[in-house]
Amino acid sequence: MRSAATRACRRSISGVRTMLELADVHCFYGAAHVIRGVSLKVQRGEVVALLGRNGMGKTTTMRSIMGLAPPQVKAGSIRWNDMSLLGLSAHEIAARGIAIVPQGRRLFPSLTVTEHLTMLKSPRASKGWTVARIFDLFPRLAERRHHRGGQLSGGERQMLAVARALMIDPELILMDEPSEGLAPVMVQHLEQIVLDLKREKLSILLVEQNLYSALATADRVYVMETGAIVREAPATALTQKPEQLLRYLGVQ
Ligand SMILES: Nc1ncnc2c1ncn2[C@@H]1O[C@H](COP(=O)(O)OP(=O)(O)O)[C@@H](O)[C@H]1O
Ligand SMILES: [Mg+2]
Repeated sequence: MRSAATRACRRSISGVRTMLELADVHCFYGAAHVIRGVSLKVQRGEVVALLGRNGMGKTTTMRSIMGLAPPQVKAGSIRWNDMSLLGLSAHEIAARGIAIVPQGRRLFPSLTVTEHLTMLKSPRASKGWTVARIFDLFPRLAERRHHRGGQLSGGERQMLAVARALMIDPELILMDEPSEGLAPVMVQHLEQIVLDLKREKLSILLVEQNLYSALATADRVYVMETGAIVREAPATALTQKPEQLLRYLGVQ
């Protein structure tokens, strides 16, 4: 059913700038059919927000892109620069230039900031991101370089999680609810970091429950409800009429 339309669609955007393209993806946890036909794309240099309430399937979508199991991807395609990612390990996917900042910013309580940044051997030839450059972008982490993960504030932990993702020199970063649980001033700081990374020509797929935070950085927005995309719109259209989306997101 989708073949002719999908081929035409891919032709029209192929060679343009589409980096990541999910087409009619279905994911399962055991017998639970959690992602039900998700299609989305991220173009080069774009910040794309994936919005939706708790339990709608945002993290599952991220995990399926990154090759993390569970879930199991049972149908559809996930393509990166027109090559299939299905069946590749998370390490192989990272080596192709996709990094993830997982929800809950998992860090090692006893390792220092510097150790977090140097423990990963990049699977890619390091083109640009060095610890020194990271510290330029995150002066707060530079000040805290000898602090251990367990001693950092929530905002500092989130910055370190983003910094770790950069150390693999990604072209696309998947960020899963980076603003969750942060004070408003830290949320604004993170928005600035996303804009800085966009200026560095990185593409970002940003999962958010906070519509306003997403609209501060995103070019385009998808809304997810019970495992499916129910809306897609340019962020500019939504900035004027955010109330259109609030019903999908519950009280903000
Ligand atoms: N490891 C898992 N095993 C079984 N079900 C899961 C697992 N992780 C998530 N789910 C279920 O999948 C659905 C989507 O979850 P998730 O992708 O985490 O949503 P979101 O990130 O949008 O909050 C939810 O119903 C959740 O309970
Ligand atoms: Mg989630």
